[in-house]
Amino acid sequence: MDFQRLRRLKQSTVIQNLSQEDNNININKLICPLFLIDGQDSIQPINSMPDYYRYSVNKAIELIEEYIEYGLKTFILFPVIEQEYKTNIIDKTSYALSTKSFFVQAIAQIKNKFQDTICLISDIALDPYTIHGHDGIYCETSQTILNDQTIHILAQMSLLHAQAGIDMVAPSDMMDGRIQHIRAILDDNDYINTGIISYSAKFNSNFYGPFRDAVQSTQEAGIDKSTYQLDYSNTSQAIQKSLIDLEEGADMIIVKPALAYLDIITKLSNHVSVYKPVIAYQVSGEYTMAKLAAQYNYLDEYKIIHETLTSIIRAGANSIITYHAMAYAKYRNIQN
Ligand code: PBG
Repeated sequence: MDFQRLRRLKQSTVIQNLSQEDNNININKLICPLFLIDGQDSIQPINSMPDYYRYSVNKAIELIEEYIEYGLKTFILFPVIEQEYKTNIIDKTSYALSTKSFFVQAIAQIKNKFQDTICLISDIALDPYTIHGHDGIYCETSQTILNDQTIHILAQMSLLHAQAGIDMVAPSDMMDGRIQHIRAILDDNDYINTGIISYSAKFNSNFYGPFRDAVQSTQEAGIDKSTYQLDYSNTSQAIQKSLIDLEEGADMIIVKPALAYLDIITKLSNHVSVYKPVIAYQVSGEYTMAKLAAQYNYLDEYKIIHETLTSIIRAGANSIITYHAMAYAKYRNIQN
């Protein structure tokens, strides 16, 4: 063995380039989450997410213009609903299914403005609209989430967003059978080109805290979503759920959170990413941990972002939803 030669070879840039795996992060693989609020000219800070804001639609449009300049063109929208519109019973008359909802109108305005230069995704779930903050309809008497009634509402909501011009709906509720239901209602109404990104491997994680603060879906007593989100000690359930969602018609699937679930990303991408993309969601808690450590100069923010995003791509994700998208795109712009 000539260790000296091996070392020399490893250091040669030509050899390195030849043998390098392509785990580079392409900016257009990043998906940007946006929190939308009702009103005009409004930008609100989010306490638990440093440097992240909620935007009224006109401000969101300005922001999207800036994102586009940096090569970011895919956006996932989350509504922040005023307390007065939240209810515990969700039915046809609820704000969640109203064409007058600011969120539905915002989708239409954004899509009208940017047309096909961007890809617009909306999160589909009931938590922004319910007082208790659960993703589904909660039955007080049985103390359970009513799966079948919920998927009916979610399908209606998906249709409403499709009519407003959304490119893809992303159900994040984790009810069973919702993909099939949503696909059917979209097809029946001729929205055959509206895609479905399913949050299939969504774990009952402790990393969602800042998001719940951002959309104001946190309850004083805390919300336990363990009856419908996945147990994080269980791999096969996540694989099984994802395969079922794909079978039911999902076009892409999401693993969420990302960093603590790289093994799931790898396993799923080995199973499915040959024919359906696997998206990783670097969630709010992951964002806030990095931001806070960076604020104290305990970690270098951009190096941490670069390293974590690289690890997620290396694990096998085809794309990443991340609150770091803009900061990272700016950083890359300076580097190049
Ligand atoms: C709710 C939803 C959550 C997230 C996206 N959609 C939180 C939850 O399940 O309570 C979390 C995203 C994040 O933490 O960044 N449907």
